[in-house]
Amino acid sequence: MKQAIDVKNICCIGAGYVGGPTMAVIADKCPNLNIVVVDKNLERINLWNSDDLDRLPIYEPGLKEIIMRTRNVNLIFTSEIYSAINNADMIFISVNTPIKEKGVGAGQASNLCWVESSTREIAAHASGHTIVVEKSTLPVRTAGIIKDILNSAEINHGNSVKKTFSVLSNPEFLAEGSAIKDLLFPDRILIGGESIESINSLKNIYKKWVNEDKIIPTNLWSSELSKLAANAFLAQRISSINSISALCEATGADIKEVSTAIGLDQRIGSKFLNAGPGFGGSCFKKDILNLVYLCNHFGLKEVADFWEQTIIINSWQQKRIYKEIVNKLFGNLVNKKITILGVAFKANTNDTRESPSISISKLLLNEGASLVFHDPKVTEEKISLDLKEKIPYSSHWSYEKDINLACKDSDAIIVLTEWEQYKHINWKKIAINMSAPSWVFDTRNILKRDLIEKNGIKYWGVGDGYQN
Ligand code: NAD
Ligand code: UGA
Repeated sequence: MKQAIDVKNICCIGAGYVGGPTMAVIADKCPNLNIVVVDKNLERINLWNSDDLDRLPIYEPGLKEIIMRTRNVNLIFTSEIYSAINNADMIFISVNTPIKEKGVGAGQASNLCWVESSTREIAAHASGHTIVVEKSTLPVRTAGIIKDILNSAEINHGNSVKKTFSVLSNPEFLAEGSAIKDLLFPDRILIGGESIESINSLKNIYKKWVNEDKIIPTNLWSSELSKLAANAFLAQRISSINSISALCEATGADIKEVSTAIGLDQRIGSKFLNAGPGFGGSCFKKDILNLVYLCNHFGLKEVADFWEQTIIINSWQQKRIYKEIVNKLFGNLVNKKITILGVAFKANTNDTRESPSISISKLLLNEGASLVFHDPKVTEEKISLDLKEKIPYSSHWSYEKDINLACKDSDAIIVLTEWEQYKHINWKKIAINMSAPSWVFDTRNILKRDLIEKNGIKYWGVGDGYQN
């Protein structure tokens, strides 16, 4: 095997959902490495350094235990970006890459301004040889842009000690809510790059806890594209099953039975076949839009249209569930109280980015409903920020920490996140205090229809054709 470049000091730019947990796991598995996670958002850094581990900026099962072991041992969170870059042998770029809101490619292309600014910071402050690792999800060929910026620093550096760079792509496949498990037991690690020595350096880090046969070297562009394609395939599965859920409701079939039947075919597999209120999260939509933009850019209109349909079905699913709720409540939500159980885009996270719960709630508020929100991890402040984003809905909603109080006097309860505790609700207790005729809308298919109906509440479940 070719030599690897010696790596002792690591810097990660971006202390977000990826940077924080990923570096925590690396620090835990590689006590010989010094890891500094930097972010320009001082508030976020302060939360990472908070004495109270329940106040970490990110909720992930298992995260706080690792932070407890590693923080201020070989894992530092700081806003001192330049010195961390200067000391690092390897730098991960783990910054946000949202969709551009204006200008060329608005609404589809990735906004690379944070990647570019981090790269310029690296170009200006790095010293010696630095391996720069793309951790963020990026459009194919972004490594070329990063190399161009870094190469110009190599050339412009004048007489002082020469600085050199090599660039790797190492996309992250963790899912929120299971980030620590995904990081500890990854299906594969992709390392795209040109310098074998640099690839080996990163490989040596992962080898501390990942089997070598799961660490796959590729070329840079394959690595970048594989990340976008993997997310597109996963999202497409959800849109596929959601499209079939509508057909189940129309025909009397049951989506749970259909997805079990489909998933038993080993070529299809059983995972990611749960019908629901549409996929949320910060990445699926943006990554598919980015893929669509790239396809159009390369003149592949048919391919672009194919993938765009995944997003079209996703927002259609959210709208059709909202319309179903309005119809069942006699076409009128004015003076009706509706309880929203779950605000996070999935269970076991406090993240609400692109959450179907937020988009469906906005539609309901627009109909004149009064909403009461409950979520075990999302705070009232966060909900307020999400709802105020575009239209001020503040007067028609409230927040309740106790599920029973949240459901008191409600005309309808809508389960929008599959939190475990919602599976164990005492419906007898809830039913007594609801306003009749009362409804439960189970957009995640996690409740037991008979238990709810037995207590006099009407039930609607996504893809549940038995209700016809
Ligand atoms: P995030 O918004 O939670 O965190 C990004 C952080 O980068 C922010 O705190 C921001 O302040 C910081 N930042 C931006 N520019 C900076 C700069 N120049 N210097 C210092 N700090 C800077 O984002 P995230 O969810 O962690 O996602 C990061 C990337 O990883 C994205 O490209 C995303 O697509 C990808 N990804 C995310 C997930 C996920 O589950 N969230 C999973 C896989 C991949
Ligand atoms: C997803 C991918 O699963 C990760 O591999 C990827 O790294 C990440 O995006 C990313 O690039 O950001 P994440 O969005 O965190 O992870 O969570 P998922 O478990 O994929 O769920 C996404 C959405 O799909 C959620 O709203 C979830 O409720 C929904 N979903 C998922 C369904 O509706 N049905 C399913 O069967 C599975």
